[in-house]
Amino acid sequence: MKTSPAAIKNPTWSVGDVHGQYSYRNPHADLYLYLSQWSDMESYLNVGYSRPGQYHLHVNTHLRLINRLADGLLDLHARGPHTGDRRLLDIASGRGGAAIHARRRYGLHVTGVDITPYNAWRATQNARDRQVWPNVRFSMGNSLRLPLPAASFPLVWSIESPAHFPDKPVFLREAARVLKPGGAFTFADLLVVEEVAAASEENRQIYADFLRVWDVPYLESFDSYRRAIAEAGLELRRAEIVTRCNLDILNRDCAIFLWLSKWPWLYRTYARYLKWRTGANLDNVYEHVLASHRALRLGMIDYGLFWAVKPNST
Ligand SMILES: C[S@@+](CC[C@H](N)C(=O)[O-])C[C@H]1O[C@@H](n2cnc3c(N)ncnc32)[C@H](O)[C@@H]1O
Repeated sequence: MKTSPAAIKNPTWSVGDVHGQYSYRNPHADLYLYLSQWSDMESYLNVGYSRPGQYHLHVNTHLRLINRLADGLLDLHARGPHTGDRRLLDIASGRGGAAIHARRRYGLHVTGVDITPYNAWRATQNARDRQVWPNVRFSMGNSLRLPLPAASFPLVWSIESPAHFPDKPVFLREAARVLKPGGAFTFADLLVVEEVAAASEENRQIYADFLRVWDVPYLESFDSYRRAIAEAGLELRRAEIVTRCNLDILNRDCAIFLWLSKWPWLYRTYARYLKWRTGANLDNVYEHVLASHRALRLGMIDYGLFWAVKPNST
C-alpha cells in the first residue's frame, strides 16, 4: 500500500517551534541570520526562483518567485468576474516583502495574516517604512482558522508557508472559504517525494531530520496536494514542480558550504566573523545545512507551485 505523506510526521513538532524559528528564539533561526549577508531576510523568507545563470543569493531571487506566482494569479483574475476588485489576502505573510511587492508592482491592496507576532510586527514596520501602509496591512492570524468572513477576497495566496501548517487540507478549505466565488488562488510549497522518503529506515531518518531543522510537522506530495485542492472545492488550473529553479541550487550551495567547513582553521575563523557580523552561531547553521543537504541530494524534497480558482457555483 502507498504511504500517505501525512503518515510520515515530525513527532516533536509544535507551533512553538515555528514561533521560535521566526522570532530568533530557536537555533534554526541562525540560518536566516547567516543568509542575511546576501539577502533581505527581514522582508523575505522564501527560497526564491532562478533560471540557469541567474545569481541566486539576492533579493531578486525572492521577487522572481513572487512575480511568477502573481503573474499566473492575475491572469486567472483577468478572466474572472472580479476584475474591479484588486484585494489580495496573503496567508502567512511573514515579514511582508511579498505583500509590499504585490502593492508596488501590481497595485494590489493586501491584507496579510501570520501566526508569529514578530513577523506581523516586522511586516507592519516594513509597510510603513516603504510607504505602502495602510494599502498593505498585517495582523496576526492562524491559517487554519482565518479571522475573516467567507467569500471576502477575490485573490488569495500563500508563499512557502503551508509546509509549517499541521493540517494542509484544512488550510485549503479555509482559503476556499474566504475566496469569493470566481476568485483565484495560488500557493508555493515544499513537497515530499514519498517513494524516496519512505524507501528505507535511513531515508526516513534523513527525512525526519529535514522536517526537524525546518520546524515542519509534515509535507504533502504533489499528488496529495492535487487531491486536497479538489476536495476543498477548488479547481486546479495549473501546477508545476520547479525544484531545479530553487532547491537544486540551494543543494549546490549546501554542498559548497559543507566542503568549505572541512578545514578547521577556516571554520573557526568564519565562525568568529559570522558571530560578529550577524550574531549567528555557525554550528547551528552547519547542522541545518547538513540535514538539508542529506535530504535534497537524495531528491526526497520537491518544490511546487499551484494555481486554482473557486468555481462560481459554490
Ligand atoms: C517560510 S515563511 C514565508 C513567509 C512569506 N510568505 C515569504 O514568502 O516571505 C513561513 C511563514 O509562515 C508563518 N506560519 C507558520 N504557521 C502558520 C499558521 N498556522 N498560520 C499563519 N502563519 C503561519 C510563519 O510565522 C512564517 O512567517
